[in-house]
Amino acid sequence: MNGAKRSNPIASARDPGTTLARVNRLVTLAVLAVALLGSACGSTDGEPGSEGLDDSFYPNLGNGGYDVLHYDIDLDIDPEANTIQALTTITSRATQDLSAFNLDLSGLTVTEVQINGSRAEFSRSNTELIIEPAGALASGSEFSTSVSYSGSPEPVADPGVPYQPLGWQNIRGTILTASEPSGSMSWFPSNNHPTDKATFEIRITVPTPFTAASNGILVEESSADGYTTTTWRMDDPMATYLAAVYVGDFERVETNQAGGPLIRDYLPRDSPAEIAEALSITPQVISYYEDLLGPYPFDAYGTIVMPHTLGFAMENQTLSVHGRDTIDPLVIAHEIAHQWLGNSSTLDDWSETWLHEGFATYLSSMYMAEHHGWHLDVKMAGWHGTLSRWNSVPPMEIENAQMFDVSVYWRGALTLHALRGLVGETVFSEILRTHYQQSANGNTNTVEFLAVVTQLAGSEAAELVESWLYDDPMPPL
Ligand code: ARG
Ligand code: ZN
Repeated sequence: MNGAKRSNPIASARDPGTTLARVNRLVTLAVLAVALLGSACGSTDGEPGSEGLDDSFYPNLGNGGYDVLHYDIDLDIDPEANTIQALTTITSRATQDLSAFNLDLSGLTVTEVQINGSRAEFSRSNTELIIEPAGALASGSEFSTSVSYSGSPEPVADPGVPYQPLGWQNIRGTILTASEPSGSMSWFPSNNHPTDKATFEIRITVPTPFTAASNGILVEESSADGYTTTTWRMDDPMATYLAAVYVGDFERVETNQAGGPLIRDYLPRDSPAEIAEALSITPQVISYYEDLLGPYPFDAYGTIVMPHTLGFAMENQTLSVHGRDTIDPLVIAHEIAHQWLGNSSTLDDWSETWLHEGFATYLSSMYMAEHHGWHLDVKMAGWHGTLSRWNSVPPMEIENAQMFDVSVYWRGALTLHALRGLVGETVFSEILRTHYQQSANGNTNTVEFLAVVTQLAGSEAAELVESWLYDDPMPPL
């Protein structure tokens, strides 16, 4: 578009007096007109959407030019071979005139892509699936993208979690997903960044002896010819990293709680009674946070317990996964806290994980103090002492590989504890509640949190929070 302006041929015509010059001028005018026409058409042809969203740690995650409204994911799973046959249909709205756009997908074989029911060209480059519709998609228009793909999903290597595989895994016959931050692209194509949340419907077909579980409400279950299909609906916005699929030998255990969300846990069949016993605190934890923050954000909650150890737990929306080794009240309460802070109110850049981990750590500690005999001041002093001797990277100064560093969890929690000490109980709860409610069902960041602190407690309080988040060395307790 700018090219025509830069080389304006009229301005450079040398001798306007001669016939030849006039002819030249007419020719160049015609050339110019064609160039202008061409560039006008160019803008209705659109431009490719960007291949990333400028995340500080993951510049290539997510894609520009469109906004996903809904994912419909259809998975046919062979658990023994660990293979899938899949069709993901994505409803999006174009945010610019689009000549092409990307999805994020790692591995697997894509066999066909359709836009609004017509075949589209596609190519692949690393984790980018590049799609070229037959005609441009107009800004503001809604369109559907169907991707047919298959293969054996492989975990992704993620620089934020260098110590473990991420995404789809098959551990001794149990299929599990744990995808924070980038792993969901190991099993479905998406706009893989937490700023583009969408609703989901996930349909899973497995051979009949297997049980499948996913996010939200189980809306349909049918069996035929030795296969069982379950359909799961997540009607509240969900970030891609919180989407989850499990396949194994599980037993569904429902607890109906008057006035609360549906509680359904998935336990390995024939689990020892202590597991169900440990999980029985769930309704109490939920109502503790409801008093603090506001109503539980989703229709259901539950824990899926792996038949093996895991070394971590993960707060998938409405279906946290725990290993046999991570079913204690603190971790259970931590993953439940994430349903408000992390899942409903979600960071907008992966460099700010303290907004999830610091809050979940502190809120679960408050629950432990209220119901399990923790002495909060003593506990916090203990963490402070350990971090000062060992590792106290300021949570807002972390590098990619440190996004789940213990300092993000503990110093994040200490930040809130120090703030509470300064402003007192009433103002502190107001801050928590306001921060959560302003960003529920959406995204937030540290600047917004600091604005809430300033508004409700003044700039001295905001400066205290800043020094906990940014300063080296860590402030004294
Ligand atoms: N958000 C998780 C937690 O609550 C940490 C997840 C780290 N990622 C992972 N795949 N292990 O602690
Ligand atoms: Zn956490």
